[in-house]
Amino acid sequence: MSDWKTLIKEDRQAVLARDPAAKSMAEVRLCYPGLTALKAHRRAHALYRRGHVLLARLLSQRARHRTGIEIHPGAQIGRRVFIDHGDGVVIGETTIIGDDVTIYQGVTLGGTGKETGKRHPTIGNGVTIGAGAKVLGPITIGDHSKVGAGAIVLKDVPPNCTVVGNPGRIVKKPKPTGEVDLDQVNLPDPMLERMEALYHRLSALENCLSRHARRIGCQDCPGGEPWCENDSKGSETHADLQ
Ligand SMILES: CC(C)(COP(=O)(O)OP(=O)(O)OC[C@H]1O[C@@H](n2cnc3c(N)ncnc32)[C@H](O)[C@@H]1OP(=O)(O)O)[C@@H](O)C(=O)NCCC(=O)NCCS
Repeated sequence: MSDWKTLIKEDRQAVLARDPAAKSMAEVRLCYPGLTALKAHRRAHALYRRGHVLLARLLSQRARHRTGIEIHPGAQIGRRVFIDHGDGVVIGETTIIGDDVTIYQGVTLGGTGKETGKRHPTIGNGVTIGAGAKVLGPITIGDHSKVGAGAIVLKDVPPNCTVVGNPGRIVKKPKPTGEVDLDQVNLPDPMLERMEALYHRLSALENCLSRHARRIGCQDCPGGEPWCENDSKGSETHADLQ
């Protein structure tokens, strides 16, 4: 079997393995626009590499009309890549995508408009990019990282991390191994960490207060506060608590 056919076969098997909604290979072959777009891309990329740029672009545009997925023929895409649903996916010319990557609908792997040359992202192996996420510029998303739905990522993401939000921030990092960390880009956010710690302490205090107020039947609370779930019976007041 030629390498091209092997690639397509692996792409189909990846869909069956990764999408719980896919029940049979026949369904995978017939109902997955991501596969159609990938198949067209693998042809277009081969033409592009041989210098048939216009023909490659025409193939890519035809696939876009059929699937709503636009992959520039220059993009380098690894094995077993799964584009789920696919509508609105845009993959730029200098994008490099590793193996076993999952991409949902509405994802843009694009440029910021400021760079020339390599201006699109490099996506590591095993990365998942959630619906509507935008990964912009010649940045790298490390192996096995996850980009949350709706995130806008403008900076490198190390391997095995989860990045969410706009602008994308890392909410999960791999456990430290004891090695010296030379990463000067993705520094922790101490203010955010303190705010989160305060929030957790406040919630614990409110719960505690609520239990005590309920036990003594406190009637002083104007109502609505989370610690005043009970405004009945009893005669004790906040003053009694002091
Ligand atoms: C990011 C994602 C991959 C989960 O990764 P994870 O490493 O398991 O992370 P968790 O679920 O533990 O979430 C970590 C934190 O990020 C937050 N978070 C998760 N996804 C988020 C998102 N898309 N946007 C903003 N915050 C998000 C969680 O609330 C959690 O916050 P907390 O620590 O304050 O509770 C997942 O939430 C996601 O967005 N998947 C995309 C799926 C998708 O596009 N599906 C479309 C199907 S059609």
